[in-house]
Amino acid sequence: MKHLLFKLQSFLVLLVFTAASAYAQKSPVDMNRFIDDLMKKMTLEEKIGQLNLPVTGEITTGQAKSSNVAKRIRAGEVGGLFNLKGVERIRDVQKQAVEESRLGIPLLFGMDVIHGYETVFPIPLGLSCTWDMKAVEESARIAAIESSADGICWTFSPMVDICRDARWGRVSEGNGEDPFLGAAIAQAMVRGYQGKDMSRNDEIMACVKHFALYGAGEAGRDYNTVDMSHQRMFNEYMLPYQAAVDAGVGSAMASFNEVDGIPATGNKWLMTDILRKQWGFDGFVVTDYTGIAEMTDHGMGDTQTVAALALNAGVDMDMVSDAFVGTLKKSLTEGKVTEEAINAACRRILEAKYKLGLFDNPYKYCDVKRAKKQIFTKEHRAVARKIASESLVLLKNEGNVLPLAKKGTIAVVGPLADSRSNMPGTWSVAAVLKNATSLAEGLKAVAGDKAEILTAKGCNLMSDAEYEKRATMFGRSLHRDNRSDKELLDEALAVAAKSDVIVAALGESSEMSGESSCRTNLEMTDTQRMLLQELLKTGKPVVLVLFTGRPLVLNWEQANVPAILNVWFAGSEAGFAIGDVLFGDVNPSGKLTTTFPKSVGQIPLFYNHKNTGRPLADGAWFQKFRSNYIDIDNEPLYPFGFGLSYTTFSYSDVSLDKTSMTDKGELTATVTVTNTGKRDGAEVVQLYIRDLVGSVTRPVKELKGFEKIFLKAGESKKVSFKITPELLKFYNYNLDFVCESGDFEVMIGRNSQDVKKAAFKLL
Ligand code: NOJ
Repeated sequence: MKHLLFKLQSFLVLLVFTAASAYAQKSPVDMNRFIDDLMKKMTLEEKIGQLNLPVTGEITTGQAKSSNVAKRIRAGEVGGLFNLKGVERIRDVQKQAVEESRLGIPLLFGMDVIHGYETVFPIPLGLSCTWDMKAVEESARIAAIESSADGICWTFSPMVDICRDARWGRVSEGNGEDPFLGAAIAQAMVRGYQGKDMSRNDEIMACVKHFALYGAGEAGRDYNTVDMSHQRMFNEYMLPYQAAVDAGVGSAMASFNEVDGIPATGNKWLMTDILRKQWGFDGFVVTDYTGIAEMTDHGMGDTQTVAALALNAGVDMDMVSDAFVGTLKKSLTEGKVTEEAINAACRRILEAKYKLGLFDNPYKYCDVKRAKKQIFTKEHRAVARKIASESLVLLKNEGNVLPLAKKGTIAVVGPLADSRSNMPGTWSVAAVLKNATSLAEGLKAVAGDKAEILTAKGCNLMSDAEYEKRATMFGRSLHRDNRSDKELLDEALAVAAKSDVIVAALGESSEMSGESSCRTNLEMTDTQRMLLQELLKTGKPVVLVLFTGRPLVLNWEQANVPAILNVWFAGSEAGFAIGDVLFGDVNPSGKLTTTFPKSVGQIPLFYNHKNTGRPLADGAWFQKFRSNYIDIDNEPLYPFGFGLSYTTFSYSDVSLDKTSMTDKGELTATVTVTNTGKRDGAEVVQLYIRDLVGSVTRPVKELKGFEKIFLKAGESKKVSFKITPELLKFYNYNLDFVCESGDFEVMIGRNSQDVKKAAFKLL
C-alpha cells in the first residue's frame, strides 16, 4: 500500500514538472500562472516552509538551532540549503524534496562561492586591484560554471560593502573603499554569475550582500553598530548595492548591523522602501546567518516579535534562525503578520526557483558528468593564474631589485613560504586546500631548473600560540613549530647564507582576515618583524612578498626593505602567479583599492574625504589649529589607486574639448600616456572629479572613470573620458539626486594623489 502511494505521489510530482515544462518559457505571465496554480495547492505550513533556510552542516557559525534536516525537507519545511558540497549529495537531498515531499517543490542549493569554487581566484579585495572588469566577470563566470557543475544554483556573492576601516577583517571580502569602482565590480560579478538570464545550467543566481552598510561598523569591529547620515549613506555607500540591483541580481542578503537604530534584518525602510520601491529590486531577500534570532540580542524582542518584524520589513527567507517556521503561523493567528505578507515572500522564492529552471528540471545542476569535467580544469586554472598575477600590487622596488633573474639560489623564508592551505585565502569554502600551490612550489615551477629554490620557515606566525590558533582556523594551520625562535632563525640564516637573494614570505595568515577576524594592531607580527630585521642584516637583497587580507601598517618595512610585493591571497594558482611577477614574466599592474594608513590612529582614512573648514596648506604636514595630528601627518603610506610597475609611465597634461557644458551637454577629457621604460606593461588610468562648490559639502575628489591600458615599451596612447552631467550628480540635503552648476576640477593620473588637473564649468 505504502509503495503504491509513493508511486502515485511520484506520478503527481511528474505531472507538476511536466506542467512546469510547458510554462518554461519564462514570460512573467507564464511564471505567474504557474506559481498561482502551485500556491493554490500549498498549505500555510508549506508556504512558510519555503521561507526556511536551515543550517546544513560543514560550515557553521553563529547560533545554529536546526537539526534533522532531511525529515524537515520531506515535511515541506525547507526552501533551500547551503554550503553542502558535492553533486551526488546534493542530488540525493534534492531527491528527498522532489520525490518525498507532498508537492515536490525543488530546493535551492546555495553556497559562499565568494572568489571561485575549486579554482580559486584572488580574495575580492585583491581581485578589485586588477581594475579589470573583464577579469572580474570572467572569475565569476568560471565560479558559476564550476559550482553549478557541482550542484550549486545560488551564490552568496557579490559582497559589495564599502569599507574604510582596515581593522575590519571583512575588508578582504569587498572591493575596497570606492563606490564608483565598487559599483562597476558589483555589476561585473552579477553578469558573470547570472549570465544572460539564469536559464542555462551553468548560470547561477547571485546574492548581493550585506544590505546595508556592513562595512561601516564602529571601531572596525565585526557585527558592530553602524550609524551614519543619509547623505553619506547614499553618496558614499549605497551605489554598489544599487548597481547590483540594476544588473538584475536575483537575491539580496540583509546585513547583521543596525541602520538608523533598527537592525537591517527588521528594517522596513531599507528592505522595502529603498530596495524594492526606490530601486525596483524584484528578487528575494534572505537574512544573514541567524540574522533574525540576533535581533533579540539587539534588543528588539522575543523570537516571535523579531520574526514578524523581519517579515513585515520585507525579508523573505530566514537563514538558520528557524524563526519563520517556528512562529509565523502563531503570528498570523494573532494578527501580527498577514497572509499576504507570507504569500508575497513565498512567491518570491518560488519565482527564483522558476527563473532558475528548477521546476522544469530540479536536477538541472546535478549532472555528475559535468562535475567530473568542469571543475578545477587546466583552462580555468590558467585564467585564475593570469587574473591572480594582475591582482598583485608592487608597493616598492628600490634599485630595481625586482624582477628577479632566473638564476642562482633563492631563499624563500617565512611562515608563509611553503603553505598550500593559506594560499586560497579566507572564504574559499569549496577549495581543496591541498590542490593549491605554495609560494615555494610556484617559484620552483616558474624558475624551472634555472634557479635553485631553498626554503625555511624562519619563525612562527607570532609568538603568542593562542593568537596563532585564532589566526589559522578551518584547516589553514601553519603547523606551529616547537623549535625555539633561535633555532628557527638559525635555520633561515643558514639558508639565506647559501642564497643570492631572499624572498621573505610574511604578513597575515589567511584567517587573520575575513569574518570575525578584526585586529587593532595592523603591524607585522612580532616574530615576523624580527625575522625580517635579521634577514636584512645579511646584506643580501630582500624582497618582501606580503600576504594580507587588509591594509597593514608598513612604515618600518617601507623604510627598510628594498622591494615589497603585496600579493593578498591570490587563490589556488597564487604560487605560480607570484612567480610570474617576481621573475618578470608578467609586469605587475595592480593598483590599491584601499588606502594603507601610516597608523591605526588615522583610521578611517580614505581618499575621497571632505575638505573641512581648516584644511592644511599645500605641502604642510602640521599647522596649529588646522585639521591634523601633532604626532604624524594626515597622509596615507600608500594612497588609493597606487601601484608600481617594472616600467614607467608618463602622463601629458589633461586637455578638455571644452571648458563648459550645460546640464544637457557633455565634454571629453583626454591625456596621453606613454610607456617611458624598457618593458611592456599595463597601466590603470584614473579619472577623479571635484565639485568645488555645492549646496552641501563635497569630497576633495571622487573616482569617476578608469581605463586599464596596455602599452608596449616606448608606446603612447590617448585615453579619453566622457564627462556627462549624470557623472556629476550627488544626493543633496533633501536626498534628491542632482548636479549643480558651478566649477569643477578634473584630475587624471596614476593614483589618487599623483594627478594632472584641468577645470570646467557646468552652466
Ligand atoms: C555569514 C556571513 O556574514 C555571510 O556573508 C555568509 O554568506 C553567510 N554566513 C553564509 O555562510
